[in-house]
Amino acid sequence: MQARLLTTAPEKAEADALILPIFEGQSTLPPEAAALDRKLKGAITQLLADREFRGKFMELVPVHNLNTLPSKWTVLVGVGKAQELDMVRLRNVLQSAGRVLRKRGHRRVTVLLPKDVAARAGAADVARAVTEGIGLSNFDVGSLKTRHEQAVTQISTLSIVGLDGDKAASAAVKDAVVLADATNRIREWVNAPANAFTPTVFVEKVKEAVKGTGLDLKVLEVDDMRRLKMGALLAVARGSDEPAKMIVLRYSGGRKGGPMLALVGKGITFDSGGISIKPAQNMEMMKSDMGGGAAVVGAMLAIAELEPKINVIGIVPTTENMPSGKAIKPGDVVTGSGGKTIEIINTDAEGRLILSDGITYAVKEGATHIIDIATLTGSIVRTLGPLAIGAFGNDPPLMDRVRRAADLAGERIWELPTWADYDGLIDSEIADIKNSTVPWAGATTAALFLREFVEGRPWVHLDIAGSAWQDASELKTVPRGPTGSGVRVMAQLARLLAES
Ligand code: BES
Ligand code: MN
Ligand code: ZN
Repeated sequence: MQARLLTTAPEKAEADALILPIFEGQSTLPPEAAALDRKLKGAITQLLADREFRGKFMELVPVHNLNTLPSKWTVLVGVGKAQELDMVRLRNVLQSAGRVLRKRGHRRVTVLLPKDVAARAGAADVARAVTEGIGLSNFDVGSLKTRHEQAVTQISTLSIVGLDGDKAASAAVKDAVVLADATNRIREWVNAPANAFTPTVFVEKVKEAVKGTGLDLKVLEVDDMRRLKMGALLAVARGSDEPAKMIVLRYSGGRKGGPMLALVGKGITFDSGGISIKPAQNMEMMKSDMGGGAAVVGAMLAIAELEPKINVIGIVPTTENMPSGKAIKPGDVVTGSGGKTIEIINTDAEGRLILSDGITYAVKEGATHIIDIATLTGSIVRTLGPLAIGAFGNDPPLMDRVRRAADLAGERIWELPTWADYDGLIDSEIADIKNSTVPWAGATTAALFLREFVEGRPWVHLDIAGSAWQDASELKTVPRGPTGSGVRVMAQLARLLAES
């Protein structure tokens, strides 16, 4: 998709669809649309006055321009109550609207931002939200259907009217295209079924994706893992016939010896639970258990294009978690690459095991800041639902930056505690630590487990088990399917760290 700010009047814009966002309860025409409305003989004014269109969040009413304008349709899009419109909601509503328009065959879209809508945030923030929202609409989950019509039409051009020539805003538009494209690419991967997306395929996809980006790719094979004594990752991989891999991506934008941000993502291409097997209900969703690993790759791809002045290493341990005669069993004790012994209580708590070896690798490579990201716990799904990333950390300044990065990214993050009062919960009687414990605070105890491996480095853990896949049909305000959760947060974080 191409995107730009446009300074021509909306009634002169050539487009298939001209999106006009309108607040709830607004009964008069935004002045910016006056000339447009005159051409339409007052149609919009009338729709508003008659309450045929109320501006409710996600409401969408297309009005045909009847060849009176260079654009074909004017599309009124409700953005809800003014005080409730933040940049996450603006992205969501535009993503949904974009999807509707795409299905109607529209390729060229112009968004006309009335002043009151544009004023809900700074020009750059609004530009980013609009561009990412429309960019993200260019994704759908049906790419394996043989009659795949809706994917045929993609929005190819986006023009934004109403932010004029704001410099920061035009830069934000450019970046947003990169970020939306990177996000969409990895949504495709998260959506892919596990038979078509094994660790080996994952590596192939990454090889293809990094071509020409300048990113350096190294792949650790099972033999390398043995040499490095990655007993935790190998333990999970034992049950599967598919060989495990560890993807290592490097971006060197900073000075030698300068800060190094590590992004470590869980790449379980299918999580059956292993011997502690999961119930059949919804098990098919466990094809998306590599969402954290994919997000790391997506962030690295975006970082390579955005070129922040910092060094970043992306690490993705990837394997299936399967039951078999070779699989690890509850009660087994394994040793991670950092030397800690781990008692396996539940083979379904596999994510923290493979991440622990990924984090140790990051530490050994000299990471100064560590982010890990994973579809880690059912507990975070019950806590936050699909609406937010759960965050845990050991360093308030880094957590603050992650929060700012999430603001820029238009992704919701909520911090949960790691108070010392929780200490001891993951102690094992026979080994150093255990991978599963009390039936409460499950997202927290998973975070405590990971913290054991960061060697005191500033660290934030992002649990995206809820946010990676939006499937609650009850929520009409959020687009459904794989979301690409975390890609933009991590890319924006790299930029913030580079600036400081
Ligand atoms: N991949 C799951 C977590 C998950 C659950 C992701 C639902 C997406 C949706 C993870 O490996 C897991 O099974 N976690 C267990 C840990 C428990 C056994 C300690 C969980 O949260 O139930
Ligand atoms: Mn599991
Ligand atoms: Zn899992």
